[in-house]
Amino acid sequence: MSGKITLSVIKADVGGYVGHSSMHPDLMNAAEERLSNAFDKGLLIDYHVTRCGDDLELIMTHKNGLDNEKIHKLAWDTFVSCTEIAKELKLYGAGQDLLSDAFSGTVKGMGPGVAEMEFEERKSEPVIIFMADKTSPGAWNLPIYKIFADPFNTAGLVIDPSMHGGFKFEVVDVYEHKKIILSAPDEIYDLLMFIGAMRRFMIKNVYRKSDGEIAAAASTQKLSLIAGRYVGKDDPVLIVRCQSGLPAVGEVLEPFAFSHLVEGWMRGSHHGPLMPVPFYEANPSRFDGPPRVIAAGFQLCGGKLIGPRDLFDDPAFDEARKKANEIANYMRSHGPFEPHRLGLDDMEYTTMPQLMKKLEGRFVPE
Ligand code: F6R
Ligand code: MG
Ligand code: MG
Repeated sequence: MSGKITLSVIKADVGGYVGHSSMHPDLMNAAEERLSNAFDKGLLIDYHVTRCGDDLELIMTHKNGLDNEKIHKLAWDTFVSCTEIAKELKLYGAGQDLLSDAFSGTVKGMGPGVAEMEFEERKSEPVIIFMADKTSPGAWNLPIYKIFADPFNTAGLVIDPSMHGGFKFEVVDVYEHKKIILSAPDEIYDLLMFIGAMRRFMIKNVYRKSDGEIAAAASTQKLSLIAGRYVGKDDPVLIVRCQSGLPAVGEVLEPFAFSHLVEGWMRGSHHGPLMPVPFYEANPSRFDGPPRVIAAGFQLCGGKLIGPRDLFDDPAFDEARKKANEIANYMRSHGPFEPHRLGLDDMEYTTMPQLMKKLEGRFVPE
């Protein structure tokens, strides 16, 4: 097959089972049916429906390019019909990520998260799709940096001539709705100044410097900023292409052997470790967490999704999971104190304005 293909991953939380911990199979079956119809009509080359925690993930390949109305409408309609089922079953938070009543050309800004990339399929095209629950898109900054800029993680940056030139990072300022491209290794200190502040600056795309080839694409929607109020965590997705002049599968997975601290645990208001788990363990239950990440590996074949392989289903990640549990215990021991609880401006639940009002008269000069 010639010509570019588009890989679109569009996700939403349209109802949890039980609470926010997981997904009812009826929702997945309904999504499967919708995408199967689109496949039969020739809109999709292939698709895969999965979930991480309470998030429904639609993985689709097609020839329609980025931000395509038909593809986005298919995802939107799928989420709407799954919401109907979630309502019938009185699942928790039915339709919680659908912030609008009517579709208007793209799901962007309407609640669902989107990561998409368009490229010419190589002779062999391994891709990994990371999906996380109980966290936000800033959670990808650290692993993306390690994959594409850290020679202690990615040996290929040093010893593979085809990636020795480095990568370019497109960083979005989600507060100011601006973006900038920064280059590694030459600008890594500048880059780190921004992406270390992962609530505000998020890596959206990564390109190989030598030829501009797209290497990674992440969802950077922030539901709270879209809606102007708390409407659930963003629970991001990330697509990474691997091998042959891009980081190897093992180099792409390696950063997740360190369970770094991310925001989003319990009520979107706590920090906790991001735990890499196999698909069947992506059911965050303890204190509504700790945050989880799964990795679905595919080989593309003329746009067909050969897979998935459950890439964190490997005892080599057991230590990371054990460590994540230790970190979870340590963080939980802080109870309502920072830095387990997020800073005052960052919490998605707060009683502070009411308390300030109630106790106003009791504050006296110190
Ligand atoms: C959901 C999440 C949960 C909820 C919590 C309270 O992504 O992070 O921890 O915030 O279960 O939910 P409500 O207020 O709906 O009872
Ligand atoms: Mg939920
Ligand atoms: Mg979720």
